[in-house]
Amino acid sequence: MKAPDDFYNRTNPVSSTPDNIEKGRLLFQLDAQPSCVMCHGSQGDGTGGFGANLSPPPRNFTCTETMKDIPGGQLFWIIRNGSPDTGMPPFQDLQDEHIWKLILFIRSLAQ
Ligand code: HEC
Repeated sequence: MKAPDDFYNRTNPVSSTPDNIEKGRLLFQLDAQPSCVMCHGSQGDGTGGFGANLSPPPRNFTCTETMKDIPGGQLFWIIRNGSPDTGMPPFQDLQDEHIWKLILFIRSLAQ
């Protein structure tokens, strides 16, 4: 699902420092529930055990080709609201800042 236009092109307000990326990694691998890892895999390559049975499959964040064209606002929208009719659940309880840090971590995987 595409984010609304005013949201789609939003850029990440949190700067991409090693510290913020590390906080994103901790959220991704430990703190956010249900854990991103069970579907996207601990390295974000889409190989989480639960994700293996999902169609469409969980996004592989290490695929630079796929990720480079997806704006931050779109990633934010899907993490907040989920992706309807897929396994991607909404994360309504995460603070905005935490979602942006998750995105910094996700972006750090595609290179
Ligand atoms: C229960 C499985 C599951 C969990 C848990 C999960 N995801 Fe996903 N995720 C998916 C699936 C499946 C898709 C593909 C959805 C699609 O193709 O529209 C996806 C897609 C995404 C996308 C791509 C959005 C886009 O528009 O390209 C992002 C970003 C994402 N997930 C982030 C996360 C983060 C961050 C977490 C943890 C806070 C998480 N996901 C937890 C299954 C999951």
